[in-house]
Amino acid sequence: MTTSPKTLARRRRHLMDLAEPDSILVVPSARERLRNGDSYYPFRQDSDFLYLAGFEEPDAVLVLIPGRDAGEQILFCRERDPERERWDGPRLGLDGAREQLGMDDAFPIADLDEILPGLMEDRDHIYHSVGRDPAFDRQVIGWRNQLRKQKRNARSPEEFIALDHLLHELRLIKSSQEIAAMRRAAKISAQAHRRAMQVCRPGLGEPDLAAELMYEFTRHGCPPAYLPIVAGGRNALVLHYVKNDQPLPDDGLVLIDAGCEYAGYAADISRTFPVSGRFTPAQRKIHDLVLAAQRAAIDKVRPGNAFDEFHAAACRMLTEGLIELGLLAGSLDENLAQQSYRRFYMHKTGHWLGLDVHDVGDYRIDGHPRVLEKNMVTTVEPALYIGDDDDIPAEFRNIGVRIEDDIRVTDGAPENLTGAVPAAADEIEALMQS
Ligand code: GLY
Ligand code: MN
Ligand code: MN
Repeated sequence: MTTSPKTLARRRRHLMDLAEPDSILVVPSARERLRNGDSYYPFRQDSDFLYLAGFEEPDAVLVLIPGRDAGEQILFCRERDPERERWDGPRLGLDGAREQLGMDDAFPIADLDEILPGLMEDRDHIYHSVGRDPAFDRQVIGWRNQLRKQKRNARSPEEFIALDHLLHELRLIKSSQEIAAMRRAAKISAQAHRRAMQVCRPGLGEPDLAAELMYEFTRHGCPPAYLPIVAGGRNALVLHYVKNDQPLPDDGLVLIDAGCEYAGYAADISRTFPVSGRFTPAQRKIHDLVLAAQRAAIDKVRPGNAFDEFHAAACRMLTEGLIELGLLAGSLDENLAQQSYRRFYMHKTGHWLGLDVHDVGDYRIDGHPRVLEKNMVTTVEPALYIGDDDDIPAEFRNIGVRIEDDIRVTDGAPENLTGAVPAAADEIEALMQS
């Protein structure tokens, strides 16, 4: 899926409308990063740049100049070069940037230092991602200083402003095209989880299930959106477990947290299921409780509710259940006031999802939790991580369960983008036996 030049140009105009009129906005592509020798890490475009430029290549800089009649959307990028393209693959080039990305003009990236200072003339403010990449910060300051040196009497930018806030507010609300890409990432990721459940049986290891996930992503041309977690048994208690190299416990659970990226947009799904295909009564109790908390939380993902409300709903349900199971003592109110659930549940219930897995956008505005609006997308991912301390009944020790779905805020009922993976214990068992 490529974004149309019209849509890209509209996004850039929208951003310029939000910026100060006498400003210039500068957005760099991601850099290629050397792994060793002449091998590179897989290239992933910078999400801000991808959103605005729709351009997958490195060595590029987008410049936006609000209020300038001619050439206000300018891309600096690599020129066509048959010799280099033989080694590294095709480049879009300057004509391609104008035609396929909707740019007003395009210049060779090699001319950036020469041209950019002049584009800053008569501008008062420079917007860029202040502080994200110190080398780029120095370049931006250098271009401004070069202008001052070259033209002593020219009006030049005095103020450097972080672009993040303006741009990330735009990225937070997804367009119908973006939602379509997210549905596709969700669908492929859901297939991968279903595949892992169907293949799983005693005797396999974490790498076997990791391979099944990657097989499903790769055959759809999608990279993983983050390092997958395939955590058998007590490995599920390590929140960022990514080694995925251990045997699976025959009678234990396996927690999988994995999602792919389609057209840059991420899915982020967690499921926890029994390696044997049958939950033990204790595993089922914990799993049912996390699922009840997730359902209560998802129901709060509605326009007009504060972002914090679904976390609060999950914590309340988990606390009630933990008291019922004897894992917490005392009254519901006392436990909620003391947040004693944190012994078993130490993270938040969700985060924005989009081009980044932990997507951009403020969670609080002027000190208050943000109110949900249509076409925001958030994960809802309650969990319980129960260790093996002496005071924990033996049947519950070393059980880690997380259930995570990707939820779109609609006008009314929440839309679960990842509901195609069974979440209820009975449905998981049915799929595993099929
Ligand atoms: N996969 C990262 C997360 O769930 O936040
Ligand atoms: Mn998540
Ligand atoms: Mn996740």
